[in-house]
Amino acid sequence: MSACIENIEAFQIEDSRKRPALRVVVRAGGGEGSFDVPSGASTGSREARELRDPDGGLTKAMRCITEEIAPALFGRDAEKQRLIDETLLALDGTPLKERMGGNSLIGVSVAVARAAASARGVPLSTHLRELADIPRSRHAPHLFVNLINGGKHAEGGSSIQEHQIVTLDEDPRVAFATAERVERALHELLTEEGRPFTMGDEGGVVFPVTDASTAFEVLFRAVQKAGAEKEVVLGSDMAASSFFGNGTYTLCGSSYDTAQLSEQYHQLIQRYPLTFIEDPFDENDVPAFAAFQAAHPGVVVIGDDLTTTTASAITEAGTKGAIQAVIIKPNQVGTLSETLAAMQAARVEGVHCIMSHRSGETMDAFIADMAYAYGTLGLKAGAPSARERAVKYQRLIELYGNH
Ligand code: PGA
Ligand code: ZN
Repeated sequence: MSACIENIEAFQIEDSRKRPALRVVVRAGGGEGSFDVPSGASTGSREARELRDPDGGLTKAMRCITEEIAPALFGRDAEKQRLIDETLLALDGTPLKERMGGNSLIGVSVAVARAAASARGVPLSTHLRELADIPRSRHAPHLFVNLINGGKHAEGGSSIQEHQIVTLDEDPRVAFATAERVERALHELLTEEGRPFTMGDEGGVVFPVTDASTAFEVLFRAVQKAGAEKEVVLGSDMAASSFFGNGTYTLCGSSYDTAQLSEQYHQLIQRYPLTFIEDPFDENDVPAFAAFQAAHPGVVVIGDDLTTTTASAITEAGTKGAIQAVIIKPNQVGTLSETLAAMQAARVEGVHCIMSHRSGETMDAFIADMAYAYGTLGLKAGAPSARERAVKYQRLIELYGNH
């Protein structure tokens, strides 16, 4: 059986930041699949480039898809994901996908996988599992729920990009209900304390802080107010490259070298149940990650800008003991096959995978299908009250409900 690609179309839609986003629709073997492509703001320097017009539009990217990619893929078998992705990479011909854009390539790549599953009449997760064998980390993922935004995702907030609760329950329905409860408690707490807040890119609250601990303190008090101390731990994406320059980290108005920044983190870990820390140091400083991970074995250090969903970078970070988990973002590398190779490289090193959204999101819930298919450690998708985030958690609940 094969599912010949019959048609590929590209459209311009809007993402959660009201910026243009790509939608790709593929028809193959009587089936159809699409992908609405998200977009990052706090991007790693080694991640796939987006192709955009000077005004941010996607005319060039859409033209690439309809005039170059579509003719090359017509008649090809959508079930042969690896061959499709190799063709995409050869067509682009650059390491960081700057010619056709990671956005164009991932749009086609994921839409092809969905079209193949549809043509075969099997659930997407079944099709995905047949594409790659990736050892599970957990029955159902922890939800990494970013409730206080900062850094590049927020004006006027902490330099720390994300202050998360990480749910512990194995049932995603229970876990999501807990996240909603803590989010409500947080909004109430801020209102009661007369602390005005705005909303950041990932649906979390934003308020001014004078040091690195204030936002964690507020978040932890919200957890207590919700009575959820036993249901969650805390997590953070420091996104430290965004406050690093000239050898110095400038965090909430104070300057630190690597050792001093480590000490700041150490104090946060002493004070709060902070168990997951993403990108604590600059993306080029693997030794700093490794030293911190070795000194704090009970904390899960996570790579994102460090590893950019790239197999070779994950292998290096894993071999050096720099991380225990890695963020997986399909659009960060540009094709589904490379995403799966990155996940396989992680599991060979005993590193867990966390499927992640981007700060500019669409209503697409593909990452939830990935998290379910491969039993990843986590699903990181932002605040429950933002609809483009909630739809990912809801999809996960639906998948586990049908299970
Ligand atoms: P981004 O941020 O989508 O803006 O890159 C998310 C992250 O850093 O995890
Ligand atoms: Zn990150």
